[in-house]
Amino acid sequence: MGHRSCISPASPMLFVCCCCLLWLFPILAAGITRHYKFDINYTNLTRLCHTRSVITVNGQLPGPRLIAREGDRVIVKVVNHVSNNISIHWHGIRQLTTGWSDGPAYITQCPIQTGQSYTYNFTITGQRGTLWYHAHISWLRSSVYGPMVILPRKNESFPFPKPYKQIPILFGEWFNVDPEAVIAQALQTGGGPNVSDAYTINGLPGPLYNCSSASDTFKLKVKPGKTYMLRLVNSALNDELFFGIANHSLTVVDADAVYVKPFETEWLLITPGQTTNVLLKTKPHSPNATFLMEAKPYFTGQGTFDNSTVAGILEYAPAKKSTTAKLPVMKPTLPSINGNFSTPQVANFTAKFRSLASPKFPANVPQTVSRKFFFTVGLGTTPCPQNTTCQGPTNTTKFAASINNVSFALPSVAMLQSYYAGNSIGVFSSDFPQNPANPFNYTGPAPNNTNVGNGTKALVLAFNTSVEVILQDTSILGAESHPLHLHGFNFFVVGQGFGNYDQNKDPAKFNLVDPVERNTVGVPAGGWVAIRFLADNPGVWFMHCHLDVHTSWGLRMAWIVMDGPLPNQKLQPPPADLPQC
Ligand code: C2O
Repeated sequence: MGHRSCISPASPMLFVCCCCLLWLFPILAAGITRHYKFDINYTNLTRLCHTRSVITVNGQLPGPRLIAREGDRVIVKVVNHVSNNISIHWHGIRQLTTGWSDGPAYITQCPIQTGQSYTYNFTITGQRGTLWYHAHISWLRSSVYGPMVILPRKNESFPFPKPYKQIPILFGEWFNVDPEAVIAQALQTGGGPNVSDAYTINGLPGPLYNCSSASDTFKLKVKPGKTYMLRLVNSALNDELFFGIANHSLTVVDADAVYVKPFETEWLLITPGQTTNVLLKTKPHSPNATFLMEAKPYFTGQGTFDNSTVAGILEYAPAKKSTTAKLPVMKPTLPSINGNFSTPQVANFTAKFRSLASPKFPANVPQTVSRKFFFTVGLGTTPCPQNTTCQGPTNTTKFAASINNVSFALPSVAMLQSYYAGNSIGVFSSDFPQNPANPFNYTGPAPNNTNVGNGTKALVLAFNTSVEVILQDTSILGAESHPLHLHGFNFFVVGQGFGNYDQNKDPAKFNLVDPVERNTVGVPAGGWVAIRFLADNPGVWFMHCHLDVHTSWGLRMAWIVMDGPLPNQKLQPPPADLPQC
C-alpha cells in the first residue's frame, strides 16, 4: 500500500515542513492529500478447508485500511490485473461534484478492463466515522472490500472521550465456490442463488464452523478498564446481521459516518452497506473468562439463506501470567434469526438512532419538500424464455425485483458519460415512475400478476431540490426487509412504520428535529420508511437494495441531479483516464 503524505514517518523532513506550513498558514489545515495504490489480483486463500483463487485488493481480505481525516483529499490508483472487469465504489463518500469517482459500473463509469488502471480522486467533506469501499460490478465485492477510517480534522476531537484504541470489524461472506459462478447460474436459471458457506469477521470464519481452525478466528485482545471503539461494517453480500459480545454492552456513537446521540445496547442489527461506530468498555479487572463476539443473520425472506453464525473472541490480557487453566467461554444472546419473531425488536432498535443534532453537528433536515416520490420496493417475476424451464417461483418464471415495477437494466455504456456528453438517447430515459402506475394493497395479499416491467430509467432533479421518498415494501413473493442505499447523498430517515404508508396520517408523526442521517436504511419487512434529502450534488446517482441478489434482479434506479448556477455546484469535467466501455 503506497501511503505517502506529510504525516508519513518515512519523510521526517517533509513532516517538519508541513507542520511549519500548517502553523504559518492555518488555512492549509483544511486537509492533506493521501495516495494509495490498489492492485486487483488473484490470491489463493483457504477457509473451511477449501482453497480458492480469490480476487483481492493487494492480496488482502479484507482489503487494506484506508485512513484519512475529514477534509483530506484521497487519491487511489486502481490497477486491474485480473480477467474480470472491475470498478471500486467508495461507499458513503459524498463525492461532491466528483461523480466520476463514485464507481458503480455502467452508472458513473465504464469498468476498468484487464491490464488497465483508473485513478479515483475525491475529497472527504463533512463526514467523520467509518465508511468502506467495495467493488461495484456483479458480485466481485464478495472479496473486494475494505474499511475507510475517517478521523476528525486535526485539532478536532470526537464528541465523546477519545477511545484507547480503534478497531475496524468487517463482516463478510465466504463462498467455497466462485461467487461469480453462483450469480451467473442464478440469473440463467431464474432461481435463488446458492448461499454462502460462512460469515466472516475481518475475513475469518471463526471456531463455530467445521474445518475452521483457531488461526482462522478473529481475536480482539483487550486490556481491562479501557474504552475501545469498534468500527463495524457489514460487507456481507446478501444478509443483514445481528452482532453482539457476550457480557458486554456497546454504546452506539456514529452511523454511516455521522454522529448519533449515544445509546447503549446489548446487540446491533447492521444491514449490508451500513457502518456504525460503537464504544466497548472493558471490565475494570481481567475476568476469568473469554467472550465470544458473534454475528448471525436476520432473515425476513422466503428462500434459503446462510443460517450459520460467525464468532470472534474477545480476550483479556491475563491478570496473572500463571493462568493456564482453560477459561470458560461466554456466548452472547442475540435475537432470533427468524424475522417473524425478531422484526418488532429490530424496529425498536432502529428507532433508537437519532442525529446528534448539536450546534457543531446540526441535523439539516429539509423542513419542507418540493418533490415527493413514492417507490414500491420488492420482488416479482419475469417470464421464462419460451421452451425452457426455469427455477423461479414457478417453472415458467424467473425471479426479478423492482422499484415501482421497473426492474432496472444496466446500460452498456456509463450513464454519467452519456449524460455529460448530451447523448443519452438509446442509453436511458428520464421517465422513471414517480409513483406506482397501478396502486394496490402493497402489504396485503399479493396481486395475481407478479410480472415486472424493465428498462433503464432515471429521475431528473433540479439542483438543490428538496426531496422526500417513501420506500414501501411489497408482499409480492413475501414481505422482506430491503436495505436501500443512495449514492452521493446522506438522507434523513424521518419516519418508518408497518403496513401501507398513509399519506394522511403518517406525515404528522415524522421526526424533523433529530432524525438519523445515513446512506443506507432498512425498509422494514411489510412496512415503509420516509427519507428526505437535499439534491445538492450534481451527477448521476445510483439507488439500490444492498442485498446483491436483489440488485442483480433489478432493484435499482438512478437519479440525475442537474448542475447548479455557481462554479462549485457543477459536475467537474471527466478525468483523462476515465475508462471507456
Ligand atoms: Cu455499497 Cu451501490 O453500493
